[in-house]
Amino acid sequence: MMAGRTIRIAPSILSADFARLAEEVSRAEQAGADWLHIDVMDGHFVPNLTVGPLIVEAVRKVTTLPLDVHLMITNPDAFIGEFAEAGADYLTVHVETCPHLHRTVQLIKERGVKAGVTLNPATPAVILSEIVRDADLILVMSVNPGFGGQKFIPSSLVKIAEVRALIDRTKSRALLEVDGGVKPDNAEDILAAGAEVLVAGSAVFSTHDYAAAITALRAGRPSVARTTGIAAAQR
Ligand code: DX5
Ligand code: ZN
Repeated sequence: MMAGRTIRIAPSILSADFARLAEEVSRAEQAGADWLHIDVMDGHFVPNLTVGPLIVEAVRKVTTLPLDVHLMITNPDAFIGEFAEAGADYLTVHVETCPHLHRTVQLIKERGVKAGVTLNPATPAVILSEIVRDADLILVMSVNPGFGGQKFIPSSLVKIAEVRALIDRTKSRALLEVDGGVKPDNAEDILAAGAEVLVAGSAVFSTHDYAAAITALRAGRPSVARTTGIAAAQR
């Protein structure tokens, strides 16, 4: 725990086995996941296609975990109603896709869903100044969105600290989440910079032991099994 903040781990199902999705979701839940992160990509805003409201609805039926839905899509306003009905608890939109961001945030909240706002690595933190108090969640992307398994961009740490300062200065109640390349060996730095929700796709679903991975992320350091090579030997 950093500065008294509750740390939440949100495994991203992007790296899960979609042929066994219900089983993967329940394994993550039993392993101690706090939220489930669902990556929605449209092949337009980002160069990849993934899932839509159907999968959110399907996952909603097999878990009680909060569903943290990350919309990497052009014109998210058109789909807010569908994702709300599908059972999203958080709907996070990119500032780069929302010319009327204040309206979009209000639309999300009017549907009874918590509103998240996210920014790409090249988008400066200052863009959040007028929206931070309306948001329930701020997500700092630490990779260029589109794919799991990419390398954490080191300069993201400065931006995380800047957003932390902005949230604190404005007394916003927004949670600060980080997504992309989060691993047990950089989690400590990310948490120290002020993050409190860690998204992790490959760091959870590409390992043998989801519980060990989630525990290591929460602790902000590699697990004992990993450092002694036990996990590697079991694979
Ligand atoms: C990337 C997605 C991430 C992705 C993270 O565009 O938004 O949520 O699943 O995957 P890892 O943790 O493997 O970088
Ligand atoms: Zn994501």
